[in-house]
Amino acid sequence: MTEEQIRLAVTGAKSLDQLELVRVELVGRKGSLTEQLRRVGDLPAAERSSAGAEANRLRLAAEAALKLRFAELRAAATKSELSTPLDLTAPGVTLALGHRHPVSLVLDELIEVFWQMGYQVADGPEVETEWHNFEALNIPETHPARDMQDTFYLEGGNLPRTHTSGVQIRFMQAHKDDLPIRIVSPGKVYRNEDEDARHSWSFYQIEGLVVDEGISLADLKGTLEAMMVGVLGEGTKVRLRPNYFPYTEPSVEMDASCVICSGTGVVDGASCKLCSGTGWLELGGAGMVHPQVLRNVGIDPVRYSGFAFGFGPERIAAIKYNVGDVREFWRPNFNFLDQF
Ligand code: PHE
Repeated sequence: MTEEQIRLAVTGAKSLDQLELVRVELVGRKGSLTEQLRRVGDLPAAERSSAGAEANRLRLAAEAALKLRFAELRAAATKSELSTPLDLTAPGVTLALGHRHPVSLVLDELIEVFWQMGYQVADGPEVETEWHNFEALNIPETHPARDMQDTFYLEGGNLPRTHTSGVQIRFMQAHKDDLPIRIVSPGKVYRNEDEDARHSWSFYQIEGLVVDEGISLADLKGTLEAMMVGVLGEGTKVRLRPNYFPYTEPSVEMDASCVICSGTGVVDGASCKLCSGTGWLELGGAGMVHPQVLRNVGIDPVRYSGFAFGFGPERIAAIKYNVGDVREFWRPNFNFLDQF
């Protein structure tokens, strides 16, 4: 290849892309000038020095020509870009803005209500020991209450927690010498549950726990009412029914009036889907902390008493936003989610 041939190849490139192809052909790893330089070593010793000098000269010439052409082509490209008129009225690229999930909105509101009442937020692990999830809460291995909270067991005996009540145990153990306790603990729980409009195998709970001297069921009731009015608005009615939990005594079930049917149980002449026609929504369980549970964590049940409660924020979100099927919350359905 002569210097003239190199020059013609380089100036023949009419765009930066074409020039890159020429560059690879000439001085790339397998380019012709690179090969030529490599072959010098195979020549008889007498020819090597002049052939080497020639190969180097051509290579340097090629590099200089490539550099020059690159500058020319780039200048031309910039010029043509600048001379294209800029349309300031063209529609811009719209960025899709994310937003809070409806269940997160409800959790934030709940936390805000409790924060105003002097509660702090406590956290606990989603994979829990059987002791924290059951035994310490007065639910021995053979207790029928375990059936209601059947779940998936992991190797080694741990389990995805079936409720947030284990956080009570962890927090009381860590703060038994630092009473009173006032906490809420939001988080995910898992159960072996058939899905329907009101149930799902994974859902959120928010647990509450208060331990102090002289805490009574009246304190619990007032707290639950304040919470429901804070989240669902003035006029929300609260109903407590007797229930049973091994870790509270007495135990209650808390219902709030259904806002879809306004507590009547009927929508457009048909039974209300959300509350199954009862007019009430079961939101969770509560009760006075069982003395044995206090003893299990080393708190004196003669001097101290407390209450605890556990709720499903999805249920509360369903009431608040008029959603008839809690499964919607966990479907990747943007038509639904974009409404919040
Ligand atoms: N852990 C109970 C449940 O998941 C709710 C509960 C919490 C009941 C605290 C009493 C006290 O159903």
